[in-house]
Amino acid sequence: MRDIHQEKILILDFGSQYTQLIARRVRECRVYCEIVPYNIGIEKIKENKPKGIILSGSPSSVYMPNAPLIDKKLFELGIPVLGICYGMQLMTHLLGGVVSKSAKREYGKAELVIDDDSDIFKDITHHSSLITHHSITVWMSHGDRIERMPEGFIKIAHSDNSPVAAMNSRDSKLFGIQFHPEVVHTPKGIEIFKNFLYNICRCSPLWTMASFVEYSVEDIKSRVKNKRVMCALSGGVDSSVTAVLVHRAIGDRLTCVFVNNGLLRKEEADKVLSVFRNNFHIKLIYANAEERFLNKLRGITDPEEKRKIIGREFIAVFEEEAKKTGGFDFLAQGTLYPDVIESTSFKGPSATIKTHHNVGGLPTDMEFELIEPLRELFKDEVRLLGKELNMSDDILWRQPFPGPGLAIRVLGEVTRDRLELLRNADAIVLEEIKKAGLYREIWQSFAVLLPVKSVGVMGDERTYENVVGLRAVTSTDGMTADWAKLPYDLLGVISSRIINEVKGINRVVYDISSKPPSTIEWE
Ligand code: XMP
Repeated sequence: MRDIHQEKILILDFGSQYTQLIARRVRECRVYCEIVPYNIGIEKIKENKPKGIILSGSPSSVYMPNAPLIDKKLFELGIPVLGICYGMQLMTHLLGGVVSKSAKREYGKAELVIDDDSDIFKDITHHSSLITHHSITVWMSHGDRIERMPEGFIKIAHSDNSPVAAMNSRDSKLFGIQFHPEVVHTPKGIEIFKNFLYNICRCSPLWTMASFVEYSVEDIKSRVKNKRVMCALSGGVDSSVTAVLVHRAIGDRLTCVFVNNGLLRKEEADKVLSVFRNNFHIKLIYANAEERFLNKLRGITDPEEKRKIIGREFIAVFEEEAKKTGGFDFLAQGTLYPDVIESTSFKGPSATIKTHHNVGGLPTDMEFELIEPLRELFKDEVRLLGKELNMSDDILWRQPFPGPGLAIRVLGEVTRDRLELLRNADAIVLEEIKKAGLYREIWQSFAVLLPVKSVGVMGDERTYENVVGLRAVTSTDGMTADWAKLPYDLLGVISSRIINEVKGINRVVYDISSKPPSTIEWE
């Protein structure tokens, strides 16, 4: 079988906020790529046998004392290199050109005039005998510029602020561009990547989810052989796709465990069980540990304490279930590529990963190997993979749901009654958001049960009941988020339905805080 990683692009990360976007664009062109720290060394780069190398942007300046630099032998390997922003400045600096601070920082959209459209700018503007030069809109974000190109380079584009906005070496192996083709504000960016990948690096579009399934199934089969795999299924996108993919490879040698911790949403356990048992025929153990979790949480109000208890209990339940089945050799997990990059990136293991995001982590005293079939994929690729595996949009487009579940949305002490109140309110929020067609574009939308009571009036009677907070945010990765500008009418419907239909709630408020400085969850 052909290895789908054979034609690889390496992206050297110099710490740009856009590095992951570069990788996603390359993948969109169906070419496999990996992000590596800029200082992995020339030998490691050669071992990887890349068909091309991309140098990312960076918050640094090449002439600063601590600038991240590389060995200039990189440019002598005969491998095509595309330097983006800082990457172009670095290429210039190391090959004998001059980079200096520009009088004016250029940030935002700019018109790029193309002076030579033979290589990376091939066919990206319409040709007409009436127009003598061609321009496209690009996104600029830089404070330095190229004063003098290195020997042997020619200018291939310019803008008002950047006399050299793109350049290439005469042998058409080394390219530098000052703008960012990876962001959506450069509409022709993807065409520029395609030109670089297909025409310059001679890559073919091999990286498809169909070929990934084929490759991955073979890979899992050959690792697992006739041994046994377990997987903790939460019903979320990542664990679900992992389970279905591993099942495709080894069938009944996979056993999934679904733990009902009593902190799930309305009817969630039933739905997950029926989808995986009936549609996918996956061997699935249902551990109803509701009682156990709620007992352990009794009297606990501190959010971190809740998380620790839930995490510990989850591992205990999982281990017990695994032992009952006679143990296992491999544990399948839905780790994604961004998690892998976080721990190896330029910035080192990121301080922003919170321990609480590892709730439901690894069992403690069991010996097993890990299978992480999604560790090369971005979230959007996981959804495409799920499609390829015939999974429904219902599963693939589920909004993220935290491991500790409703325990961190019932503020204060978690009790059966308060969970039930929240469940009913939350179901209305989801139903209305879906009905309004907003479910996919919103990152997360849910209800929170506040630890206060408020006065109301219903009919002729004064009430003194609970308050629900609505939370809906837009985000791309959960690291930052904006409160969603939901239509007033929709807010109105949600509020009046909750107050009328959920006995015990007499007030609904909308949370209009963004992250940072707030967080998405309230606890
Ligand atoms: P915050 O509240 O930190 O949440 O802005 C960011 C994202 O992480 C989810 N979240 C968690 N996920 N265990 C999880 O598995 C947790 O303890 C946890 N806390 C927050 C949250 O839902 C959001 O998507």
